[in-house]
Amino acid sequence: MRKKPQAILGIAIAFLFFALVPGAQNPSPQVHAADDDLALTPPMGWYPWNEFGEEPQNEKLIKEIVDALVSSGLREAGYAYVGPDEGICFSRDAGGKLTTNLVRYPSGLRGLGDYIHKKGLKYALYTDAGTRTCSKAMPGTKDHEFEDMAAFAEWRADYLKIDWCNTEGQDVVKTYTKLHDAQHAAGRPIVHSLCSWGEGEPWKWAASVGHLWRTTGDICRPGRADWGNAMKIVAANEKLYEAAGPGHWNDPDMMIAGMAGLSETQNRSFFSLWCMLAAPLMAGNDLRKMTTSTIQILTNLEAIGINQDPLGLQGRIVRRSGRVEIWAGKRLFDGSQAVLVFNQGAAPADVRVAWSDIGIAESAALYVRNLWTHQTAGPHRGGISVRVAPNDVALLRISKTTAFPVPPIIVADSYLVSLHAAGPAAQKLTGAITVKTNGSDELPLWKVRPGLPSWLSVAVTRNGKSQTLTNTVSTAGVKKGLYHAVVRADNIEPLSGKPMSALYYDVDLEVTGSR
Ligand code: GLA
Repeated sequence: MRKKPQAILGIAIAFLFFALVPGAQNPSPQVHAADDDLALTPPMGWYPWNEFGEEPQNEKLIKEIVDALVSSGLREAGYAYVGPDEGICFSRDAGGKLTTNLVRYPSGLRGLGDYIHKKGLKYALYTDAGTRTCSKAMPGTKDHEFEDMAAFAEWRADYLKIDWCNTEGQDVVKTYTKLHDAQHAAGRPIVHSLCSWGEGEPWKWAASVGHLWRTTGDICRPGRADWGNAMKIVAANEKLYEAAGPGHWNDPDMMIAGMAGLSETQNRSFFSLWCMLAAPLMAGNDLRKMTTSTIQILTNLEAIGINQDPLGLQGRIVRRSGRVEIWAGKRLFDGSQAVLVFNQGAAPADVRVAWSDIGIAESAALYVRNLWTHQTAGPHRGGISVRVAPNDVALLRISKTTAFPVPPIIVADSYLVSLHAAGPAAQKLTGAITVKTNGSDELPLWKVRPGLPSWLSVAVTRNGKSQTLTNTVSTAGVKKGLYHAVVRADNIEPLSGKPMSALYYDVDLEVTGSR
C-alpha cells in the first residue's frame, strides 16, 4: 500500500511548530542523548524492584515477565526495556571481570539478552556506583568502571540503572561522569538511568552524563503500593519541570499502578500523573497477574501519547483550588495541550478549567477529548467544567481540531538478527526485522547510518505503518568466525532534519565449515 503523504506531513507540521515556538523544548547546554539520540521520549518498560525487591531473581522469572509483556499487549503499547534489577546475581572473578550466575541464569546474562531482543524488547540491567549493590549481595562498579561497562556492553544491555548504595566518600558528579565515559569507551549505546534518589540534585547536571535520574527515594517497599508516599514524590517532581526534555528526564521511580494497595481509581490517577510528569513509564507490578482493568490502564494509547509526546514537556500545577489541582504546561506536538484535573479531596469536586488557566484566550473555541472515556466534546469557549470523584482525575486534551493524533509508538518484532553460514561456498543470507508505529501517522522511512561492516547491507521497505529492515549478509571472502554489528537507523523528521527516534539492533553472523 502506498503511503498517504498527508499523514507524514502531519508529523512534519508538528515539528515545524516545535522548531518555531520558543521554549517548546527545554534547552540543555550539554545533553548526553545528543550523541546517541536514545530516550528522546521517556523510556517505557518493566523493572522488578517494586514487586520482587532484593529477592534474587532468575531467568525463569524474567522470561515469564517478558512473555507476559508481549501477550498482555504492553509491548504493542510501547513498553520495551525489561530485565533483572538487584536480582541480577553477578559476581566478580579473580581477574576482576563480572561473571554470570549460571545456576540462576543458565543461558548467561548474554543469553537472557538474546531472548529479550528476539521478543522485540530491549534489555535492561542493573548495577551500583559504589563498592556493593544495595543488598550487598553483588559487587558495585567502584574502581571497575571501565571493565564493568565493557561487561554490560558484552551482555548487550540497552539500558542500565546505576544505583547509589555504598558510595561513602564518593563524589556523585565525578562518579556518574566516569561511568558515562566508561560507557562511551565500551562502545555500545546504552540508556543510563542514574539512581542517587535526588542526592547531588541530578536535575542540575545529569543531562550531560545520563538520560534519566531518580529524583526521590523508593516509591514503596517491595510488594505493596504506598499511595501517600507516591503523592509526596509527585509533589517533589512537579517542581522540577524545567529539567525534563528529550533525552533527559526526571525519574520519580517505577510505577505502582496495578500493585496491591491501590484501587482502580488510584491506578488510573497514578498513571495519568506519570503521563503528565513525562516520567519514565517503567511498570513495577507483576505482569503475570494483571487484571483486565490494570492492562487497560497501562495500555491506554491516548494517555501514553501524552507521555510519549515528542516535545517532551513536563506538566506542572497551574492552579490549586482546595484539594483539587489543575495541571497543564504540557503543549503537545500537534499544537494541542494536555490538562489534568486531580482531586485529592474526600468529596467529589465540580471544577471549572478556564482557558486562561492554561494560557489560552477566553474567546478560543476548543474541542476537549477525555482520554479515559475517549469522548470528544465541544467546541467550548472560555473553558469547561468537569466533575471529579475523590482520588480521581480528568485527563483531557484540548485542541482547535478534533484530530487528537497519537505520536509515534515504535514497536519491533525483534531487535536481533542471527545468521549462520556453513560450508565452504560463499553465501548470501537474509534476516529481516519489522518495525511499526502504533501512533496515528506513518513515519518517514528509517534511514540506516553508514559505516556497516563490509559483509552486511540493509534495505528498508515500507508497508503503511510497518517498515521492514532486510539485512543481507554476503560471506564471500569472510573467514570462519563470529561477527557482530550494531545497526543504527534514524527516523528523521523532514523539516528539521533531526532524528525523531533512533533504532538500534544487533546482527550476528556465524561462519562455520572449512573455507
Ligand atoms: C535502591 C533503588 C531501588 C532498587 C533497589 C535495589 O533502593 O532505589 O529502585 O533498585 O535499590 O536494591
